[in-house]
Amino acid sequence: MSDGSSGRIAEELRAWVAAAPAGARLPSTRALVAQYEASPVTVQKALRALAAQGLVEARPGAGTFVRAVRTARPNDYGWQTAALGSRPHRMPGPSAALRTTPNDVIALHAGYPDRELLPERLVRAAFARAARGDAAVGRPPEAGLPELQAWFAAELGAAVPTGLAPPTAGDVVVLPGSQSGLSTLFHALVGADRPVLVESPTYWGAILAAEQAGVRLVPVPSGIRGPDPDELDRAFALTGARAFYAQPNFANPTGAQWPPDVADRVLALVRAHGAFLIEDDWAHDFGITAEPAALAAHDDSGHVVYLRSLTKSVSPAVRVAGLVARGPARDRILAEVRAQSMYVSGVLQAAALDVVSQPAWRTHLRGLRHQLAARRDLLVGALREHAPDTHLAAVPRGGLNLWLRLPDDTDPARVARDCESRGVLVAAGDEWFPAEPAGRYLRLNYSGPNPGALPDGARVIGRAVAADRRGAR
Ligand SMILES: Cc1ncc(COP(=O)(O)O)c(C=O)c1O
Repeated sequence: MSDGSSGRIAEELRAWVAAAPAGARLPSTRALVAQYEASPVTVQKALRALAAQGLVEARPGAGTFVRAVRTARPNDYGWQTAALGSRPHRMPGPSAALRTTPNDVIALHAGYPDRELLPERLVRAAFARAARGDAAVGRPPEAGLPELQAWFAAELGAAVPTGLAPPTAGDVVVLPGSQSGLSTLFHALVGADRPVLVESPTYWGAILAAEQAGVRLVPVPSGIRGPDPDELDRAFALTGARAFYAQPNFANPTGAQWPPDVADRVLALVRAHGAFLIEDDWAHDFGITAEPAALAAHDDSGHVVYLRSLTKSVSPAVRVAGLVARGPARDRILAEVRAQSMYVSGVLQAAALDVVSQPAWRTHLRGLRHQLAARRDLLVGALREHAPDTHLAAVPRGGLNLWLRLPDDTDPARVARDCESRGVLVAAGDEWFPAEPAGRYLRLNYSGPNPGALPDGARVIGRAVAADRRGAR
């Protein structure tokens, strides 16, 4: 029989397959040979053609079957364009900081520390204990396990000076990570179409959460000494904003820690303007040559709403953060939490509490400080040697990142792409600006895997920056 015959058989079988349920068995080759009065070779050829189109699969010894996954016709989602209407705000794609990567690249882009910096043994033991306890089958109270609430309150309370009332366990709400806390706060304390002041640059996830909540972002310039208090004052007065989102300790991305005079001024300003300070203490466990100093410890009048995450320092799998808020604001926040997530898994809360209650947790944090110092210094030294065109305004005293200034004639996105093509992942700094970037930056995380490769990473960055400048001329 000719090719034409195998083509005709394939065509008839295609119609049979189209009408058959997934998983149906085709007639045997022998039956097809008899049915089509064709040779076995011709029948096999027709079956191979169907297999190549993904319509059937041959299972040796069992027969040929209609494939469960068939090449589907393209769906028409056009109706959703009308149903969704116009986009309420800019919708950025996934951040560079959340990219997952193969093992063989030098990863300086990520937002979370590598697992060798986590208390892995403590976490595994904590999960084993949590699985055996009541938490595995119970529903915790909506504001969190009372013991974990008490731990968050006590940690902040330990920094409260005499004369001020420390927070109580009842002031704490446990959340599934501080990212969801930001979303909750922008909804509960600010609201759509109302302004919130933010440092510029600031955490991309805060920009995203604010935009999703429809909140209007008002940037206030911030550098190695934190925000400019005069600009902050002006922005409060000009916009009537009643909230300022900020990171006073080891800010992402700049690494800045506010000096005490700036911290005092900001507290005085939020009081004077009747506003909230949303304090994101994301790097509380990542002090290197300085201790974190929470502003919330200096406020007992409900102006500071404090967010403290355990996700980065305990484990990304223990998605738990504590929020401390006093007064009616806490009720608004709790109502929002109820609407969004209702409560955080008791197993995660029990595991988090178990880890941070162990004496070994303190030992782990002391070791972590040394590891972060060594990694930070290695990368800083390598950049000075291999990327002389770049500039660091300051070596951060805590946190996980360097905020590297590039020459003004470079394009950070292009530099990042060039680095990636040479096996080094970096994050272009533009994502951290709520409005137009005020300079060219890369954010480099020194807590990723394989710290031995940091000098190689710096070398690649140096070459990419130099090449980009030459290209721009
Ligand atoms: C400044 C800052 N805040 C909040 C978060 C969110 O942390 P999580 O949701 O893991 O607690 C991050 C994560 O990168 C961050 O950098």
